[in-house]
Amino acid sequence: MNQLLNRTTILNQTSPEAIRNQIRAYFHQTADLYESLFKLLSCDEAYFVKPISLRHPLIFYYGHTNTFFINKLVLSGLITDRINPQMESMFAVGVDEMGWDDVNEQNYDWPSVDSVRAYRLEVRKVVDQLIDTLPLNAAIDWDSPWWVILMGIEHERIHLETSSVLIRQHDLKYVKPSLDWPICPDQQSEPPVNTLVEIPPRKIMLGKNDASYGWDNEYGNFVKDCSAFKTAKYLCSNLEFFDFVDAGGYNNDAYWLEEGLAWRQYSKATHPTFWVKHGDTWKLRLMAEEIDMPWSWPAEVNYHEAKAFCHWKSEQQGLSIRLPTEAEWYSIYAYAGLSDESISAGHHANLFLDGYASSCPVNQFAHGDLFDVVGNVWQWTETPIFPFDGFKVHPIYDDFTTPTYDGRHNLIKGGSWISTGNEALKSSRYAFRRHFFQHAGFRYIVTDTPIEDHSSHYENDKQLSEYAEFHYGDTYYDVPNFPKALSDLAIEVMQNQPLKTALDLGCATGRASFELAKHFDHVTGIDFSARFIGLALKLAQQGVVRYTMTTEGDLVSYQERTLASLGLEDVAHKVEFWQGDACNLKPNFTGYDLIMAANLIDRLYSPRQFLKAIHERLNLGGILMITSPYTWLEEHTPREEWLGGFKKDGENVTTLDGLKAVLSAHFDLVKAPMKVPFVIRETQHKFQHTLSEVTFWKRVR
Ligand SMILES: [Fe+2]
Repeated sequence: MNQLLNRTTILNQTSPEAIRNQIRAYFHQTADLYESLFKLLSCDEAYFVKPISLRHPLIFYYGHTNTFFINKLVLSGLITDRINPQMESMFAVGVDEMGWDDVNEQNYDWPSVDSVRAYRLEVRKVVDQLIDTLPLNAAIDWDSPWWVILMGIEHERIHLETSSVLIRQHDLKYVKPSLDWPICPDQQSEPPVNTLVEIPPRKIMLGKNDASYGWDNEYGNFVKDCSAFKTAKYLCSNLEFFDFVDAGGYNNDAYWLEEGLAWRQYSKATHPTFWVKHGDTWKLRLMAEEIDMPWSWPAEVNYHEAKAFCHWKSEQQGLSIRLPTEAEWYSIYAYAGLSDESISAGHHANLFLDGYASSCPVNQFAHGDLFDVVGNVWQWTETPIFPFDGFKVHPIYDDFTTPTYDGRHNLIKGGSWISTGNEALKSSRYAFRRHFFQHAGFRYIVTDTPIEDHSSHYENDKQLSEYAEFHYGDTYYDVPNFPKALSDLAIEVMQNQPLKTALDLGCATGRASFELAKHFDHVTGIDFSARFIGLALKLAQQGVVRYTMTTEGDLVSYQERTLASLGLEDVAHKVEFWQGDACNLKPNFTGYDLIMAANLIDRLYSPRQFLKAIHERLNLGGILMITSPYTWLEEHTPREEWLGGFKKDGENVTTLDGLKAVLSAHFDLVKAPMKVPFVIRETQHKFQHTLSEVTFWKRVR
């Protein structure tokens, strides 16, 4: 292994021409390294037999990284012509996110290894040409065409690692050791006994701001006060993990979480996946060979196994043992006094392929009081990946992270012996399905601090997303935000009246409730749809909501809206949301100064019943605000329940007539009806423009 290779390019340190040369060298080195990795395969057949059923065969990954380059260059307009459309359709989409229960069994007619090798060379020429000729005047940032080049390089470095895992999972007959990939010679040293080290409380602030390439999920802001905890000094070694295996840990369901148990029952695992038992002796499978078990090397497991170990160890020691969260990992990193600069400046960790093409003993690389805070193997965390505040997708790779914001992909930290480039940086955030294997193990911690749940779900229910955008999103065709406009009107009408409590009936996703709370002491939002209420509640509790919006067909864009950006964060505590039926409200919803029923009455199964009883909920002198486009539809309201919009005795009956007839027993109409417009965006190209009639009714009896 050469010295100080495999570091990502720092983009602001030298002259533009020097950066161009660095990027060229980085690109070449990445491509050469990737070629070199595939030389570990012993024959052409090794490219076409799947190492594991959940992933494509290696021929796919051999071509994929170059197809990725071409796809992104085409998408960004840097090139116009494809090199090999057939290969580029075959190599486009990986099987990276599959569960064990949704395996894609599609058959592919893969091209030969030689033809893919030739294709790779052609792509290399195209990228070289761009690197030689692209203007490089300003700093390279997220919007620069150079970002796309770096994206292609860093993407290949990710696949260098994931392909090395697949090679490690391949049948031994398909691999052959190589001097270019030397394994650690220290295989039989005595494992250290793990001890605990105290980590003090620390404020953790995350969000990438350095001058190197980053993936979308690294940007934005995240702040967390981390409590004190104790951490294991070393990564869990094979020997330490063996105690769990030997104690029957894989057979005791009590140690396994539900998802982990399902995986274990499917996989029939009885020990870590790279352990191989020959009679009474254990061996360890590396990329291209098996060696006698190096007990001092880190145990490599998936999240479920690490978690089961922690449960077992907790029981053994009477301590509260678990994996660190993402923030706690950064607390450990800070305690160890590490920085990207210090780690990348020399051979200070089993990282960057600096030393070995394998793990090494867990007590070889000290970082302060601890060992292997970075490098050797990745470390599983308790944290499913989530977007930092202000997260946005990169337009050239809009599905790099967003599909993993599903609560099912846990972050791994620290990098492994083959982590290079962006992967090896402090700010990188890679996440995998919890049952996946990487060169990953764990460091356990002792703490009573519960794990925080960062909701990361992007709402993709189409109707819900349309309402979220309707309430919290952009305005279209200069039509002001409808719930806010209604709230403003209500406040105008209620001048000099008490503003204690308001009821927002049919509140949908809740915007008017928040707006009213700027003026009222307390606002209750009620909607029939639990989905709408769920989104409103999430906003009230977390201050942020994320959803996808259809642009056209299956294409979507990703939106993030916060109460803070709408000036509503200080009133969220004054709002409560309930699921409920406006025609059958619980008795406790009463005594209001204002009841707003926006776009509600023509969606009720019995609007007459609702209107006849609504005065009971309103204080005397209180205001009932009704807005409706009077869109009577039998699917919502039986025809005999319609308030208007029909002929009676040969004469037209309008809904306003119907409202007056029902409400006059308790209300006076206090303002001439007016029409307030709203726009609901369905797709980038289709909008509904509606006029809702607004009437105000004062309870006088
Ligand atoms: Fe990929």
